[in-house]
Amino acid sequence: MLIEKNVPLQSFNTFHIVAKARALVRVTSEADVRFVVAQQEWRTLSKFILGSGSNIVLTGDVKPLVLKVEIRGRRLLSETAKAFIVEAGAGENWHDFVTWTLQQGYSGLENMALIPGTVGAASVQNVGAYGVELQDRFESLDAVDLQSGKLFTLNAAQCAFGYRDSVFKHASMTVGLAGRALITKVRFHLPKPWRAVLGYADLARKVTEANVEQPTALQIYQWICDIRRAKLPDPDLIGNAGSFFKNPTVTPEQCADIIARDPKIVYYHLADGSVKLAAGWLIDACGWRGKSVGNAGVYEKQALVLVNRGGATGGEVMTLAKAIQTSVYERFGIRLEPEPVVV
Ligand code: EPU
Repeated sequence: MLIEKNVPLQSFNTFHIVAKARALVRVTSEADVRFVVAQQEWRTLSKFILGSGSNIVLTGDVKPLVLKVEIRGRRLLSETAKAFIVEAGAGENWHDFVTWTLQQGYSGLENMALIPGTVGAASVQNVGAYGVELQDRFESLDAVDLQSGKLFTLNAAQCAFGYRDSVFKHASMTVGLAGRALITKVRFHLPKPWRAVLGYADLARKVTEANVEQPTALQIYQWICDIRRAKLPDPDLIGNAGSFFKNPTVTPEQCADIIARDPKIVYYHLADGSVKLAAGWLIDACGWRGKSVGNAGVYEKQALVLVNRGGATGGEVMTLAKAIQTSVYERFGIRLEPEPVVV
């Protein structure tokens, strides 16, 4: 295994921000990870785990040792009367994996088609779209402890999934595995019989337009791809990291207060009684859609997505993000929390 020095990261992050990794190692197997841990001079270095860089903002060169996860492989592990259990290497491209499952007849991931990133990163982030989150289809994952080199398995409860959150996003002393463990394989539980999830307005509209009573998983997959292509920028063409902020949660009283001032606000009632606000609407209402600060901008078709208009630095992206946070706070009293990891 080679340690590569001063590796350009521009093509390894979907924002296409120019930065370098001081040292980078590509891991293609669990054995590779254990090898890295076994090296005396590497073991003590802090580590940064990189998938395909679809959820990071690089604000400078990356100093910790970058472990680029390139663990491949996908297979059906088992099939019972109740489910297909499917496994993928953490370095597999998420969308390619979703496409493959559907081609094999293992339905259930279709609502999450076209989400950028790798299978491992999707688990760190608990990705979700159009009414389905990764945790809804999750079985278990394998990871290697970056201190001991030991392989361990976590179930959904142990991953502590939350809204765009998991144990792998936290690094406090007592809990959290950020930088401490590297996900190698993820297993998914795809229930039988398959049931369509069509609750989201954009998707319900497609069903009506197509005039079909019982759409197939492949039809839903195609609609999701169409919806996403229509309103989200393709990172290969315009650098971005998907939604830049999480949709904030407020109390019903706070929401009523905002509705009184802005009746058009978009919100959703959650099962626990709280209310989720559409951050894209809040940003749009503050007039940010289509605006730029330096080379960083707010996407014209979805104000929740910040884009690299060409040559943006991570600093420019964060300056824009802070300006948006300030104006949303001043107008609505709500603090927006970034979704990507700022490095
Ligand atoms: N809206 C505006 N103006 C905008 C953007 C949005 O008024 O500029 C309004 C829309 O009209 C809509 C509402 O805000 O009524 C919500 O917008 P949308 O349906 O596009 O969904 P979102 O809440 O902005 C979330 C996820 C997306 C996911 C979609 C669909 C978050 C942070 N984002 O976006 O996930 O694809 O729902 O499920 O939860 C991602 O995480 O990177 C991501 C793209």
